[in-house]
Amino acid sequence: MYLTKEEERILEGEKGWAYQTAMKVLVKLGDLFGATRLIPVKSAHISGVSYKTIGDAATEFLEEIVKAGGVVQVKSTINPAGFDPEHLKEMPIPEEYRAKQTRILNLYKRMKIEPALTCTPYYIQRPEAGSHLAWAESSAVVYANSVLKAWTNREGGPSALASALIGKTPNYGMHRAENRQAEVLVRVEPELKGETEYGALGIYVGKILGGKVPNFIGLRGPTESELKHLGAALASTGMTPIFHHGAGHEEGLEEVTVEEADLKGVVEELSTASGEPDMVFIGCPHCSLGEIERIARLMRGRKLKDDIKLWVCTSRYVRDKARVHVKVIEAAGGHVICDTCAVVTWLREIGVERLMTNSAKTAYYAPVLNKVGVALAPTSKCIDAACKP
Ligand code: F3S
Repeated sequence: MYLTKEEERILEGEKGWAYQTAMKVLVKLGDLFGATRLIPVKSAHISGVSYKTIGDAATEFLEEIVKAGGVVQVKSTINPAGFDPEHLKEMPIPEEYRAKQTRILNLYKRMKIEPALTCTPYYIQRPEAGSHLAWAESSAVVYANSVLKAWTNREGGPSALASALIGKTPNYGMHRAENRQAEVLVRVEPELKGETEYGALGIYVGKILGGKVPNFIGLRGPTESELKHLGAALASTGMTPIFHHGAGHEEGLEEVTVEEADLKGVVEELSTASGEPDMVFIGCPHCSLGEIERIARLMRGRKLKDDIKLWVCTSRYVRDKARVHVKVIEAAGGHVICDTCAVVTWLREIGVERLMTNSAKTAYYAPVLNKVGVALAPTSKCIDAACKP
């Protein structure tokens, strides 16, 4: 991979260990995937924030970067962490975990990374179509490429941080037009309704296609929220960083047909809990303003059942914009939680064993990452399960 004189000097250590390490990561990736040079990125979004998911070794690494003076060169945001400091009553998490989480957040702050603490940074600032990004968080990557038409590879936490520190990324993969083309035509026969069905489609297709790029034919006017759930689920079972829909298609592509029974099978397979849920969780990926408004509409004038928690997760930015709707949800006994989500927090430690969600991504991960049973159901059913009749 070609490096400019300045990039070479950084690689040799002229700007110190933090930038040298970041440059080494980018050069290694670039050489591995056939990049020809580094290109500037408009923003970086970094995963690996919750202490629950990264642990002590990664925290030490961040500490070293900070000690060596590492500061990001482009607008950079971070994924959700392990708890919401404004909802500690609802999240009685052991003091030791809280202290370790706070340490991680302080390290990111010292690198001048914005504490967005959300997996939907695009609701805070929507990247321009055609802009190059270095984003981790697979659901945000698919959304950026497919819905916003920005260009980003599916970075891991370390490579996104390396790009943030250098302000550049190697020009391979999704940064080249030829790699963004559809490879498989996916005919969707049933008429899909709501986030859960779109999520089920993503889970099903991700498993079949692995890393191939799908072009969905037959989706009827999906909303951006439905596409968000489709992409989040697609990236959970597969490696696809982009999908297409509603466009024309080239002849001669491999074809796959999805039938109603396939999606029903996914929902059944992901629904592992029996009995009443003790938590209903909506907001994976983090809710948009529109989604919160809809939840408030479904909850207006109602009260939560006894012994059930309702969490609606979003970014602090969106929560501030949604104040009127938040009041309705809170009046019913629910909580609008920021900075975290049910998957990246310590669910069992706060007494949850059976989780109900509208999110196929959560239903896919929570049994493994949180050791809870899951019921996957549409948003309105989730609200009905949480509220008194
Ligand atoms: Fe976001 Fe948590 Fe889901 S980080 S994508 S809400 S698992």
